[in-house]
Amino acid sequence: MFSTRFISLLVASVAASVLAKANTTTAPSPETLPGDTLTVCVDPNLSGQCDTVAFVEGVCLNMPATYVNTMTSVRVPPGWACTFYDLRSNATVACDPITGFNTLLLAPGSPDLRLQHFDDVVDQFRCHQLCA
Ligand SMILES: *[C@@H]1O[C@H](CO)[C@@H](O)[C@H](O)[C@H]1NC(C)=O
Ligand SMILES: *[C@@H]1O[C@H](CO)[C@@H](O)[C@H](O)[C@H]1NC(C)=O
Ligand SMILES: *[C@@H]1O[C@H](CO)[C@@H](O)[C@H](O)[C@H]1NC(C)=O
Repeated sequence: MFSTRFISLLVASVAASVLAKANTTTAPSPETLPGDTLTVCVDPNLSGQCDTVAFVEGVCLNMPATYVNTMTSVRVPPGWACTFYDLRSNATVACDPITGFNTLLLAPGSPDLRLQHFDDVVDQFRCHQLCA
Protein backbone atom coordinates (compact mmCIF):
# COMPACT_ATOMS: atom_id res chain seq x y z
CA MET A 1 0.00 0.00 0.00
CA PHE A 2 1.33 3.46 -0.96
CA SER A 3 2.02 5.94 1.79
CA THR A 4 1.44 9.63 1.02
CA ARG A 5 5.13 10.14 1.72
CA PHE A 6 6.06 7.72 -1.07
CA ILE A 7 3.71 9.49 -3.51
CA SER A 8 5.10 12.92 -2.72
CA LEU A 9 8.66 11.61 -3.22
CA LEU A 10 7.59 10.17 -6.58
CA VAL A 11 6.08 13.52 -7.65
CA ALA A 12 9.23 15.35 -6.55
CA SER A 13 11.53 13.05 -8.53
CA VAL A 14 9.38 13.36 -11.68
CA ALA A 15 9.45 17.16 -11.33
CA ALA A 16 13.24 17.09 -10.90
CA SER A 17 13.75 14.96 -14.00
CA VAL A 18 11.56 17.33 -16.07
CA LEU A 19 13.71 20.26 -14.88
CA ALA A 20 16.91 18.41 -15.70
CA LYS A 21 15.62 17.65 -19.19
CA ALA A 22 14.59 21.29 -19.73
CA ASN A 23 18.09 22.43 -18.77
CA THR A 24 19.80 20.23 -21.32
CA THR A 25 17.50 21.21 -24.20
CA THR A 26 17.60 24.99 -23.72
CA ALA A 27 19.67 26.59 -26.51
CA PRO A 28 20.89 30.19 -26.15
CA SER A 29 18.67 32.57 -28.09
CA PRO A 30 20.29 35.38 -30.13
CA GLU A 31 19.18 37.96 -27.55
CA THR A 32 21.33 36.28 -24.91
CA LEU A 33 24.51 36.11 -27.02
CA PRO A 34 27.37 38.03 -25.41
CA GLY A 35 28.58 41.25 -26.99
CA ASP A 36 30.62 44.37 -26.32
CA THR A 37 31.82 47.47 -28.17
CA LEU A 38 34.81 48.48 -30.25
CA THR A 39 36.27 51.97 -30.20
CA VAL A 40 37.13 52.93 -33.78
CA CYS A 41 39.07 56.06 -34.82
CA VAL A 42 40.32 57.64 -38.03
CA ASP A 43 43.70 58.69 -36.56
CA PRO A 44 46.42 56.76 -34.64
CA ASN A 45 46.31 56.19 -30.87
CA LEU A 46 42.51 56.36 -30.68
CA SER A 47 42.50 60.02 -31.71
CA GLY A 48 40.73 62.16 -34.29
CA GLN A 49 37.14 61.25 -35.05
CA CYS A 50 36.11 58.20 -32.97
CA ASP A 51 32.98 56.17 -32.23
CA THR A 52 31.94 53.13 -30.27
CA VAL A 53 30.52 50.30 -32.33
CA ALA A 54 28.42 47.59 -30.68
CA PHE A 55 28.89 43.98 -31.76
CA VAL A 56 27.54 40.55 -30.87
CA GLU A 57 29.44 37.25 -30.68
CA GLY A 58 30.11 35.78 -34.14
CA VAL A 59 28.03 38.26 -36.16
CA CYS A 60 29.60 39.83 -39.26
CA LEU A 61 29.01 43.59 -39.26
CA ASN A 62 29.67 46.40 -41.70
CA MET A 63 31.79 49.25 -40.39
CA PRO A 64 29.72 52.43 -39.85
CA ALA A 65 29.82 54.44 -43.11
CA THR A 66 32.17 57.11 -41.69
CA TYR A 67 34.78 54.46 -40.86
CA VAL A 68 34.71 52.36 -44.03
CA ASN A 69 38.24 52.59 -45.47
CA THR A 70 39.19 55.29 -42.91
CA MET A 71 39.86 53.44 -39.62
CA THR A 72 43.47 53.80 -38.38
CA SER A 73 43.25 52.74 -34.72
CA VAL A 74 40.88 50.43 -32.88
CA ARG A 75 40.32 49.31 -29.31
CA VAL A 76 39.27 45.66 -28.89
CA PRO A 77 37.77 45.02 -25.41
CA PRO A 78 39.39 42.47 -23.05
CA GLY A 79 38.34 38.86 -23.67
CA TRP A 80 37.61 39.33 -27.39
CA ALA A 81 39.35 38.61 -30.68
CA CYS A 82 38.14 40.42 -33.80
CA THR A 83 38.88 39.81 -37.45
CA PHE A 84 38.82 42.86 -39.73
CA TYR A 85 38.10 42.48 -43.43
CA ASP A 86 39.16 44.44 -46.49
CA LEU A 87 36.66 43.26 -49.07
CA ARG A 88 37.49 43.28 -52.77
CA SER A 89 35.06 44.68 -55.29
CA ASN A 90 33.92 41.18 -56.29
CA ALA A 91 33.15 40.05 -52.72
CA THR A 92 29.68 38.56 -52.41
CA VAL A 93 29.95 36.83 -49.02
CA ALA A 94 30.02 38.76 -45.71
CA CYS A 95 33.33 38.58 -43.83
CA ASP A 96 34.66 36.14 -46.40
CA PRO A 97 38.37 35.31 -45.89
CA ILE A 98 38.61 34.07 -49.49
CA THR A 99 37.49 37.24 -51.27
CA GLY A 100 38.71 39.64 -48.59
CA PHE A 101 42.09 40.31 -47.02
CA ASN A 102 41.81 40.11 -43.24
CA THR A 103 43.73 40.64 -40.03
CA LEU A 104 43.05 39.26 -36.54
CA LEU A 105 43.43 41.52 -33.50
CA LEU A 106 43.18 40.51 -29.86
CA ALA A 107 42.53 43.01 -27.06
CA PRO A 108 43.66 45.79 -26.75
CA GLY A 109 43.45 46.15 -30.56
CA SER A 110 45.85 48.32 -32.58
CA PRO A 111 47.08 51.88 -31.89
CA ASP A 112 48.11 52.19 -35.53
CA LEU A 113 46.84 49.84 -38.23
CA ARG A 114 49.83 50.79 -40.42
CA LEU A 115 51.70 48.32 -38.15
CA GLN A 116 49.43 45.58 -39.54
CA HIS A 117 49.53 47.05 -43.07
CA PHE A 118 45.79 47.46 -42.63
CA ASP A 119 45.31 51.24 -42.46
CA ASP A 120 42.26 52.79 -44.16
CA VAL A 121 41.04 49.51 -45.66
CA VAL A 122 38.57 47.91 -43.22
CA ASP A 123 35.02 47.33 -44.51
CA GLN A 124 33.67 44.67 -42.13
CA PHE A 125 34.53 42.90 -38.89
CA ARG A 126 33.50 39.96 -36.74
CA CYS A 127 34.39 39.25 -33.08
CA HIS A 128 34.55 36.09 -31.00
CA GLN A 129 34.74 35.80 -27.23
CA LEU A 130 37.88 34.07 -26.00
CA CYS A 131 37.63 31.19 -23.55
CA ALA A 132 37.97 32.35 -19.95
C1 LIG B 1 18.66 24.20 -14.20
O1 LIG B 1 19.48 25.33 -14.39
C2 LIG B 1 19.29 26.31 -13.37
C3 LIG B 1 20.10 27.55 -13.76
O2 LIG B 1 21.29 27.21 -14.43
C4 LIG B 1 19.71 25.71 -12.03
O3 LIG B 1 19.55 26.68 -11.00
C5 LIG B 1 18.85 24.51 -11.73
O4 LIG B 1 19.29 23.91 -10.55
C6 LIG B 1 18.94 23.51 -12.87
N1 LIG B 1 17.99 22.45 -12.63
C7 LIG B 1 18.35 21.16 -12.69
C8 LIG B 1 17.25 20.18 -12.40
O5 LIG B 1 19.47 20.81 -13.00
C1 LIG C 1 51.09 57.03 -30.24
O1 LIG C 1 51.43 57.08 -28.88
C2 LIG C 1 52.75 56.60 -28.61
C3 LIG C 1 52.94 56.56 -27.09
O2 LIG C 1 52.55 57.75 -26.51
C4 LIG C 1 53.76 57.53 -29.29
O3 LIG C 1 55.06 57.05 -29.08
C5 LIG C 1 53.47 57.51 -30.80
O4 LIG C 1 54.32 58.43 -31.45
C6 LIG C 1 52.03 57.88 -31.07
N1 LIG C 1 51.76 57.67 -32.50
C7 LIG C 1 51.32 58.65 -33.28
C8 LIG C 1 51.18 58.32 -34.72
O5 LIG C 1 51.01 59.75 -32.85
C1 LIG D 1 38.18 38.54 -56.86
O1 LIG D 1 39.05 39.38 -57.58
C2 LIG D 1 40.41 39.14 -57.29
C3 LIG D 1 41.23 40.20 -57.97
O2 LIG D 1 40.73 40.49 -59.25
C4 LIG D 1 40.78 37.74 -57.73
O3 LIG D 1 42.13 37.47 -57.46
C5 LIG D 1 39.90 36.76 -57.01
O4 LIG D 1 40.15 35.45 -57.47
C6 LIG D 1 38.43 37.10 -57.20
N1 LIG D 1 37.66 36.23 -56.34
C7 LIG D 1 36.61 35.58 -56.77
C8 LIG D 1 35.91 34.73 -55.77
O5 LIG D 1 36.22 35.67 -57.93
